[in-house]
Amino acid sequence: MEKVQFTEEQSTMLATLYGRALDARSAEPILGDPTAQEAVARIDYDFGKFGMGPDQALAIALRARVFDRWTRDFIDLHPEGMVVHLGCGMDGRVYRVDPPSSVLWFDVDYPETIDVRKRLYPERASYQQLGSSVLDLNWLDYLPADRPTLVLGEGLTMYLDPVGAPALLSALVRYLPSGEMAFDFYSRSGLKAQKLNSIIRRAGATLTWGIDDASELEPLGLKPAERFGVLDFITPEVLERASRGIRAQMWLARRIPYVANMGQLLRFTF
Ligand SMILES: C[S@@+](CC[C@H](N)C(=O)[O-])C[C@H]1O[C@@H](n2cnc3c(N)ncnc32)[C@H](O)[C@@H]1O
Repeated sequence: MEKVQFTEEQSTMLATLYGRALDARSAEPILGDPTAQEAVARIDYDFGKFGMGPDQALAIALRARVFDRWTRDFIDLHPEGMVVHLGCGMDGRVYRVDPPSSVLWFDVDYPETIDVRKRLYPERASYQQLGSSVLDLNWLDYLPADRPTLVLGEGLTMYLDPVGAPALLSALVRYLPSGEMAFDFYSRSGLKAQKLNSIIRRAGATLTWGIDDASELEPLGLKPAERFGVLDFITPEVLERASRGIRAQMWLARRIPYVANMGQLLRFTF
């Protein structure tokens, strides 16, 4: 068993990891990620403290599936490109997507996270893990600057500081030749309502950065390309599996734009 010691903010990655493990264990998994189950079995941590139920696990798996799809699409278009996965936490995306070795892949998170990852997950060709705050831009020196690049961050932007985050995105746009970026965002009203999210509350984390519209990032050189909002997740497959409580929230989201726009997944080109 691996003993771990994380800050409140870092421990949120154990909640999402646990969500993916519950998905893998469910009768009809959305992601079916065996690395999540294996990692949970090897980390000595009270995962029960998040109070994670099937609804939250479903939401985590659905979000990850969109990012996986965007990643696969990018790799299909750029088989010699690069993927830079920011705030990777314990996510096994590189193993799920399993890119060819012609694709360079960097996972970046705090040194404590990368240290645990290195103990849990196998090395692979063309794959590197960088232990640094993403806001300390020195880690950029490790990236080659001549490949089309997908920069990804799932469950990350809301933890970043509102001045450092745009500076990071702008530095990436200047450093990299071209590519795509994909992140999920809280809206400003979503930030105000953050205590409604029981996982964040139980982790004791605080969310600090949000945007309301993709166009806010255009001045940084990011062109909005695709949006995935709360309403896009409401499919027959999801309605069939969601609890009454979640269906009630979906009902509200359909009628009240304020609720529907509290969070969104955005893809940009640059
Ligand atoms: C909610 S977790 C998401 C982890 C992973 N993306 C997933 O979906 O399972 C947030 C992650 O962002 C990382 N993080 C937050 N701020 C960071 C920063 N300034 N630099 C590097 N990582 C950061 C945390 O360590 C944590 O792993």
